[in-house]
Amino acid sequence: MRLRLTVRDLEPTDFGELDWSGGVEHQRALAEALQAGYAGEVAVLVIALANGRLVAVGAVDFRSGPDVGVLSMLSVHEHLQSLGLGTRLVAALEKRARREGRTRARLRVEHDNPRAAALYRRLGYREVGSVVESWPVAGGRTYVTLSTVLERDLGA
Ligand SMILES: CC(C)(COP(=O)(O)OP(=O)(O)OC[C@H]1O[C@@H](n2cnc3c(N)ncnc32)[C@H](O)[C@@H]1OP(=O)(O)O)[C@@H](O)C(=O)NCCC(=O)NCCS
Repeated sequence: MRLRLTVRDLEPTDFGELDWSGGVEHQRALAEALQAGYAGEVAVLVIALANGRLVAVGAVDFRSGPDVGVLSMLSVHEHLQSLGLGTRLVAALEKRARREGRTRARLRVEHDNPRAAALYRRLGYREVGSVVESWPVAGGRTYVTLSTVLERDLGA
């Protein structure tokens, strides 16, 4: 079966369709990214099926410097993973980064997420370092993790 897909910018009215993509904190981060999008600092893209259902979401952040776009919050609906949607989403985010004049794409992947890391390596990302990250989670707690930083040259 071939899926007819549309890649487009996230709209404020989309949030009800994205509850599968993460918990309250993830939704809050998406809302903040949408706000930053109005200032041109971040682009949040979604992939929609022909019936309008959203099946993937991810962002590219332009605030880390003039050359780099930082991909984040990548998520594909769990029923539709391993079909190429993640690959398509990364390509769309990279295209947006190029359009904004960025020559490098960067992303971070948690040390215990080998499947996502393998996908990014397959797409040409190479390790450039590691970083300790933290973000708020349910119950007012803070989640702390070690992530690998990967980069890819967008010039080629
Ligand atoms: C990581 C994630 C975004 C990748 O999205 P995806 O749609 O599954 O990615 P793709 O389908 O493009 O590629 C993933 C796998 O499918 C395989 N694949 C890609 N296209 C394929 C196709 N047409 N047919 C069969 N397999 C395919 C890839 O080889 C890859 O293999 P793997 O399962 O051994 O890793 C998704 O799995 C996800 O949302 N995970 C949970 C959240 C998460 O970890 N986010 C990333 C944080 S850094």
